[in-house]
Amino acid sequence: MTQAKIKTAALIVAAGKGERFGDSVPKQYARLHGRSVLYWTVSNFLNHPDIDTVQVVIHPDHTDMYQRAVSGLPLPRPVIGGGSRQESVRKGLENLTELSPGYVLIHDGARPLVDELTISRVCKALQSNEAAIAALPLTDTIKRADKGGLVEETVPRDGLWRAQTPQGFHYTSILNGHQDNAKNDMMTDDAAICEQAGINVELVMGNTENIKITHKEDILMAERLMMARLGDIRTGFGFDVHAFDADTQTQSIRLCGVDIPFSQKLKGHSDADVGLHAITDAIFGGIGNGDIGSHFPPSDAQWKGADSAVFLEHAANAVSELGGMIAHVDLTLVCEAPKIGPHRAAMVSRVSDILGLEPGRVSIKATTSEKLGFTGRSEGMAAQAVVTLRLPLHK
Ligand code: CTP
Ligand code: MG
Repeated sequence: MTQAKIKTAALIVAAGKGERFGDSVPKQYARLHGRSVLYWTVSNFLNHPDIDTVQVVIHPDHTDMYQRAVSGLPLPRPVIGGGSRQESVRKGLENLTELSPGYVLIHDGARPLVDELTISRVCKALQSNEAAIAALPLTDTIKRADKGGLVEETVPRDGLWRAQTPQGFHYTSILNGHQDNAKNDMMTDDAAICEQAGINVELVMGNTENIKITHKEDILMAERLMMARLGDIRTGFGFDVHAFDADTQTQSIRLCGVDIPFSQKLKGHSDADVGLHAITDAIFGGIGNGDIGSHFPPSDAQWKGADSAVFLEHAANAVSELGGMIAHVDLTLVCEAPKIGPHRAAMVSRVSDILGLEPGRVSIKATTSEKLGFTGRSEGMAAQAVVTLRLPLHK
């Protein structure tokens, strides 16, 4: 038997077309709080301490959408899925043979609200059983009805559970099971394959919030659930100043990630992008995690001339790693010149790209200081930023 190189892999199946969702954008790429549904699904597994790698399975027509959706996340190349969920899972499992994990958790890309504890319960159960799935005991009374909607009987609900994902397995058992059933596409979930092979499947408690996006209105429900979860609202403030350096060679200055024509440059160790520095510091402030200088010390040669977008991305990733999101950014640049207005739209677009936010959540403003002080004398530029962050109430 091959030695397992990693302990636990998560396999996220996202190769469906989302026909019931009925939108030109498939549901796993629908927007949910500034990101895609799939981004949140994948992040929940990437951020989980028990998961060593995350493999996503996608539809061949969705490669561009996929790259945009997960940009910045540390993921291996996606696997191309098949015509049924079962086939997509099998292809994903076969792609993991090289890594040969001990355990694999299979999860629907369309369930972005899976929580840390559910994943932990599935992982833990795999230490004592070959298969373990997240499920919920039925609480409503169950009726069986005829096609006309008339009740035929009340079904006793004792012992009835609703199966969710993640569903976890010892890797070789589920790989063999899927390969043996490659021609039998009647399996309604992955656990059914184990049940048929006589393997014990343990039920662990799922979560009512772990809904599968199926219809359009499910996005609204997911938005509400996410907002309630991200109830720890933080405000971060950032301030930065850089001095002008009269340099006749200079043709442009970089502000908010955009090079704009100007006759002076800003002095600094990196590219001296005063706007991005203020936003970066505000984000670090909001999560109580040092400042731009402690993360990227000016004494470190690797940051000489660095593109400050790298700093901002790093700060945004620190928020994602906490399971949080940036809700809003408001920046004010203080200078007599250059004029910011003509470049404002490009700056908003660049900052929202770096942060993965809708442009409507980014505001960039500018003011002069009425010729007063160092900004008024055009000795330098100042920037002030306020960001609003939403972090999970409970981990
Ligand atoms: N899935 C997949 N490959 C398929 C079909 C489905 O990887 N050929 C994935 C979906 O992307 C989804 C999960 O399996 O994350 C659950 O399937 P479902 O909710 O049925 O999604 P879709 O098939 O995309 O939706 P629909 O049935 O409405 O078309
Ligand atoms: Mg389907």
